[in-house]
Formats: sequence, C-alpha cells, structure tokens
Amino acid sequence: MKIVVTGGAGFIGSNFVIHMVKKYPEHQIINLDLLTYAGNLENLTEVENAPNYKFIRGDIADRKFVFDLFEKEKPDIIVNFAAESHVDRSIEDPESFVRTNVMGTTTLLDACKEYGIKRFHQVSTDEVYGDLPLDRPDLFFTEETPLHTSSPYSSSKASADLFVMAYHRTFGIPVTISRCSNNYGPYQFPEKLIPLIISRALADEELPVYGTGENVRDWLHVSDHCVAIDLILEKGRVGEVYNIGGHNERTNLEVVKTILKALGKPESLIRFVKDRPGHDRRYAIDPTKIETELGWEPQYVFDTGMKQTIQWYLDNKEWWEHIINGEYTSYFEKMYGERL
Ligand code: NAD
Ligand code: DAU
Repeated sequence: MKIVVTGGAGFIGSNFVIHMVKKYPEHQIINLDLLTYAGNLENLTEVENAPNYKFIRGDIADRKFVFDLFEKEKPDIIVNFAAESHVDRSIEDPESFVRTNVMGTTTLLDACKEYGIKRFHQVSTDEVYGDLPLDRPDLFFTEETPLHTSSPYSSSKASADLFVMAYHRTFGIPVTISRCSNNYGPYQFPEKLIPLIISRALADEELPVYGTGENVRDWLHVSDHCVAIDLILEKGRVGEVYNIGGHNERTNLEVVKTILKALGKPESLIRFVKDRPGHDRRYAIDPTKIETELGWEPQYVFDTGMKQTIQWYLDNKEWWEHIINGEYTSYFEKMYGERL
C-alpha cells in the first residue's frame, strides 16, 4: 500500500507518520507538506531514514502539483491532515483558511476522482459542531449533531467535510471522516494553549487566559488520535463519520493551573486577557460509535498524559526554542501585544 499523508510535518500529522512508518514497514508512507510556519521536519528525525518513508514538499491547493503527484505515485490511500489549524489566525486572515482547508481538500478529491483511490480520509474537528452551553454537562456532540460553526477556521473545516461527503455521494469516492477533540502531546506548535503555557511559564512570563478561563475543551492525547485514524482506515465503513474523544473535559483555567503546579510556578503568572471573538464555550465528544463499532478506546488518562507531555517539553527545549526565537516572535507581538 502507498499512503500519502498530507500535513505530515505538523503536530498531529508528524505523530501519525511516525506511528504508521514504524507499525507498517510493508507500507510506503509519503509525507506531503508545504512546510508553512507550522510544518517542521525536525518532528520527523526519528523516521527520516526509514526505507518506507519519503517526504515531498508541495501545496495541496496547487492543482498541477497534486495531479502530477497522483500520476507519478498512484497512491492507494490519502489521509488529509494538511490545514491552517489555528482559530486565532483564522480571525486575522480567513482567506488562507479557505484556500488550504477548502480548495486544498477539493483539489485532492478531484485528483482522487481522476486517478482513483482506495480510501480518502479527511481529518476533521469537533469544532464543526459549534459549541455547547456550559450549564448543560449532559449534552455531547454525536455524529448526528448538525454542523453549526463559529469561526472562519471551523467554517472552512465544515465546508471541507461537506465537499468530502458530496464527492462520496456524487462521484462514489470511498471516503471516511474523523472529527476529533483538542489534542495534546509532543510536537504541538507553541501557539496552541498547552505548549504556549508551558513555554511561557518556564520563562516566568505572563500567561494569557482568554475571558474568564471557564471555556471547556475535551482533551485527547495525540497518540490516541493516531490509533483511532489507523483503525478507521482498517475497519471504518466508507461514507461514515467517526467522532473521536476521550471524555477529558477541563476548563482552560484548570489546564493552566495543572501546568503551573507541575512546573512549580506561581498562579500569579496568570493574566486574564480580552476574549477571543466568537469564543466557543464548550466542546464535548460522544465517542460511542467508534468505541462500539471499531473497538477503539483511549490509552491515556489526562493526568498521566499531561505529566508526560510537560516532561517532553522540558526534555525538548531546543525544539520549541527554535520556533519561539524565529518568526513566531512577531506573531506573538501582533496577537498579544495589546492584550498583555
Ligand atoms: P498543524 O498546524 O500543526 O499542522 C498543519 C500542517 O499542514 C503543517 O505541517 C503545514 O505545513 C501543513 N500545511 C498547511 N497548508 C498546507 C498546504 N496548502 N499544503 C500542504 N501542507 C500544508 O495542525 P495540527 O494541529 O496537526 O492539525 C492537523 C489536522 O487535524 C488539521 O486538519 C486540523 O484541522 C485537525 N485537527 C486538529 C486538532 C488539534 O487539536 N490540533 C483537533 C482535531 C482536528
Ligand atoms: O477542538 C479541536 C480544535 O482544537 C482543533 O480543530 C484546532 O485545530 C485546534 O487549534 C484546537 O482549537 P482551540 O481553539 O480549542 O485550541 P487553542 O489551543 O487555540 O485554545 C484552547 C483554549 O484555550 C480555547 O478555549 C482558547 C484558550 N486560549 C488559547 C490561547 C492560544 C487561551 O485562553 N489563551 C491563549 O493564549
């Protein structure tokens, strides 16, 4: 089997590439990534010399490039992680999200239609369901929950999902979609909450918490997400959506305090700042379908997973210091300059 993983130099994509290269030496894994600010080949040093791994730099929204790649490589499976993934950036620049997340996905689908494919898997997000109220802990997102988006990011992901399903129904492309909750773990870019707080707390810098810090996210270790996608490729039913989540709901403030406690840093570093516009209140996944149908269950409990993740950032300071000391500095100034 030849499997093309798009966005394989990003946070989840690189964890998935490493998982697949190691687990399936008989499969050829091709990592197709544009290497935007979020793509980092340093994530892949563990597998870069593996005989069943290859990296190709390219843009999923570049039609000629994508069609040439299909012509040459004739992939059996596409797993599409490639995306602009940060909600705050989507508020600053929605168009780049439409280009990659919508046009990039439809370009890949067109190539699948032209050249044929055994499976196109779209890595989607729980954000396509919108948010849940904070005072209704009995409510969860199921696969039947209507799409109801809040941010340009989630709207672009929902649009992509609709195209994926349309290409299945209209052109018979064998697709699956997974919608996962917030991931944490190694190689997450330090613009996202957990690595941002770890890196700033270690430097005794103020920690920006949006609004009141009461918003809730449903955290899943990235390894559990990768195993779930692997299982969907193997056993998932074509044309189906699978929600992925581990019932690990925490308020943002709880997450920040957990990190501070683990690092032995004071809560006085916390700074409540202007809220994210349109900030989703609560995400919470009902994973019953993937659990009962495919037998998936998460291996990590949040406390252990967080301890290991914090230790990983302590052991790999060089990895995130490269990022923080690079062009990311100007992003941080732009996004937080007036907030802090
Ligand atoms: P990320 O931002 O860390 O990585 C995205 C990768 O895509 C980068 O390597 C980047 O270079 C690449 N890329 C961007 N534009 C591209 C283009 N036009 N062509 C080719 N490559 C391109 O993102 P992530 O957090 O790893 O998320 C991966 C996927 O999972 C996304 O589709 C995201 O919507 C989805 N997702 C993320 C989470 C989460 O918590 N991070 C949860 C659920 C779903
Ligand atoms: O739910 C899945 C989604 O999770 C993915 O689809 C997205 O790609 C991924 O970025 C993530 O989106 P969030 O917006 O939930 O993640 P983020 O890490 O940006 O923020 C998590 C929460 O923390 C959110 O409620 C906003 C808050 N936050 C974030 C930052 C960066 C802060 O309070 N302060 C911050 O500085």
